[in-house]
Amino acid sequence: MRISVIGCGYLGAVHAACMAELGHDVIGVDVDQSKIDALSEGRAPFFEPGLPELLKAEHGRLRFTTDISEVSHARVHFVAVGTPQTEGSNAADMRFVDAAVDALLPHIGPGHLVVGKSTVPVGTAARLAEKVEATGAELAWNPEFLREGFAVSDTLTPDRLVYGVRRGDDRASEVLDEVYRRPLSTGTPRIVTDYATAELVKVSANAFLATKISFINAMAEIAEVTGADVTTLADAIGHDARIGRRFLNAGVGFGGGCLPKDIRAFQARAEELGVGHALAFLDHVDRINVRRRARVVEMVTEELGSELKGAIVAVLGLAFKPDSDDVRDSPALDIASQLALRGVKVQATDPEAIETSRARVPLIDYRPNTRGAVEGADIVLLLTEWREFRALNPAEVGAWTSARTIIDGRNCLDASQWRANGWKYRGLGRS
Ligand code: UGA
Repeated sequence: MRISVIGCGYLGAVHAACMAELGHDVIGVDVDQSKIDALSEGRAPFFEPGLPELLKAEHGRLRFTTDISEVSHARVHFVAVGTPQTEGSNAADMRFVDAAVDALLPHIGPGHLVVGKSTVPVGTAARLAEKVEATGAELAWNPEFLREGFAVSDTLTPDRLVYGVRRGDDRASEVLDEVYRRPLSTGTPRIVTDYATAELVKVSANAFLATKISFINAMAEIAEVTGADVTTLADAIGHDARIGRRFLNAGVGFGGGCLPKDIRAFQARAEELGVGHALAFLDHVDRINVRRRARVVEMVTEELGSELKGAIVAVLGLAFKPDSDDVRDSPALDIASQLALRGVKVQATDPEAIETSRARVPLIDYRPNTRGAVEGADIVLLLTEWREFRALNPAEVGAWTSARTIIDGRNCLDASQWRANGWKYRGLGRS
């Protein structure tokens, strides 16, 4: 099929490359020339495992351009632009989605299908359908559930496909079935529903995941005052299949470009709809999450004394999660900046996120590796659980620094091993 993808950021670039991999002819469109140049040369503009390989192996089926008129050759148009948090409000900023659809309108007509992938407030698809249908084209909403770090496999082999279509619009479903023929042939569940349900599936999934993480972080707060161990607690309740162990890792909490802004936008939308009370709990989910960051700063103060100014703190990990260079709303970068603003000399490292961090927070002393970060430090903080940090050898780290206290903000280290090597180990919600 001939496909266009509008927006070549995180979601769009991965989607475009994966659609080519599924055998379609794809044109990716973005207003950012530097992004288009990089993608056209087969370079990913951000770190995502597997994406560079796909960009190189696209067999001539994938092109990128800044010229929107080139989409007229395609019949299916995915809208994959961002919906960031609006400055000064919790609501989603819809300017990019609206601009993308408006830019498409002159180039579409009967036989074209516009497919929204962006995460949007419920009601958006119904609003945009009027504009799209005025051209004779149709609209579907097909939310994306990919996780950064696993974006390629999540797109090629999704755990479900959701199509939001106009009631009774079998053609839109048939076109999407053709687009996703390969994953469907391996039994991927497919749910066809109305626009509002499809939009809500996406935001409620993210709200549920955020709630699960904040639930276990709330248990960590209780564990901290009772001497209980939140990791053992998570293991034990996770054995109950109704609860499940995944997304019950307590620590510095969730960040990134999705979960934090999506729960805020969801609340803002519920308030607009007059049912704000239904999602009032998400405000607590957000507060629990942010409190964990403050807790780490408090722990550093407990260890170093209230006079933090001039202390040297090593920070291992800056990305919002491993296998990503994304530092949007990253708990790790937030904690590092809070410490730096208190006069601490922060020496931070990350396998992929140094440049993205430097662009946002220049006042941190970025070091190329763990050894550089811990040299001369008074305390070590592990804030993103990259494999190389989880595998650190406490004896080796001890030879690089005179610090003997480690705060494990992701509860991912073997406490007994660190203690056996002379370290004071502190996790979050762990005795
Ligand atoms: C999230 C969802 O998981 C995807 O399904 C969704 O498609 C995506 O948002 C989106 O809306 O685009 P992502 O932001 O890539 O994906 O990251 P997650 O893997 O969900 O992790 C989010 C944050 O939660 C990270 O900071 C991670 O460190 C944290 N987390 C995760 C915990 O603190 N504890 C856990 O047990 C799990």
